[in-house]
Amino acid sequence: MAAIDLSAAKRRAAFRALDFVRADMRLGLGTGSTATEFIRALGTRVADGLKVRCVATSKATADLAQSLSIPIASLDDLPELDLVVDGADEFDPDLRLIKGGGGALLREKIVAAASMKMVVIADASKEVARLGRFPLPVEVDPFGLESTRRHVINLARALSLPPSLALRRAAEGHAFVTDGGHYILDCAFGSIGDPEALARSLATIPGVMEHGLFIGLASTIIVADATETRLLGEAAE
Ligand code: A5P
Repeated sequence: MAAIDLSAAKRRAAFRALDFVRADMRLGLGTGSTATEFIRALGTRVADGLKVRCVATSKATADLAQSLSIPIASLDDLPELDLVVDGADEFDPDLRLIKGGGGALLREKIVAAASMKMVVIADASKEVARLGRFPLPVEVDPFGLESTRRHVINLARALSLPPSLALRRAAEGHAFVTDGGHYILDCAFGSIGDPEALARSLATIPGVMEHGLFIGLASTIIVADATETRLLGEAAE
C-alpha cells in the first residue's frame, strides 16, 4: 500500500466533508489539524457566499473561524446544531472514536451531543480494529487530582487494563490546561475490549469531567488514504 501523505489526506477528507454542508445550516466546528483543514475549506465557501452559522469546540477553532469571516455563535445561542465536523485520534469499524489528543474533548463532546449528525474526518492511519493504540484522554478537575487519578487507576485494575496514566504537560513543562480550566490524564490502557463498559465506569468518577471515548455519536467517518476517500456510515443526503 502506498505511504500516506498525511497532510494531503487530511485535506482530502476535509474537502469531502463539504458534501454534507447545506446553506443555512447550524454547524459545529471541531478542533485539531484535520478540523483546521475543514474550517479553511469552509472559509472559502463562506467567502463565495455560503450562509452558515457555526459553534466552535475550542478557542483556537473560534479564532481561526473568525479570521476567515465564518460567523461564530455560542452554543447557548445555537443549542441545537444540524451537523458537527470534527477529527479523531482513532476510530474503529463501529464508528467508535478516541478523541482529545488536542485537549478539546469536553467541548467537542458537548457540541457533538448537540448535533443531529457528526461527520468525522480522518486519515487512514487513525483506523484500528480495536480502540486503544492511542492513549485515552480523560479530562479531570484540578481539585483532588491525586484522588481522581487513584480512582482511575483502581478502575483500570478492575477492568484488567494496565493502570498507566500520565498527566498531560504543555511544552513549557507545566500541566496542560483545557479551555474549561481542567487537566488531562492520558491513559495508556492498550487494547480496549469493551469501550462501552470503560466509558460507563469512567463516568462514575466524580473528578472526571469527560473522557475521550465517543460512542454512538459519529454518523459518518470520512477516511482518506493515500489516493482516495471512503465513507463509513451514512452518506450525504
Ligand atoms: C482535539 O481535542 C481532538 O479530539 C482532535 O479532534 C483529534 O486529536 C484529532 O486531531 P488531528 O486532526 O490533529 O489529528
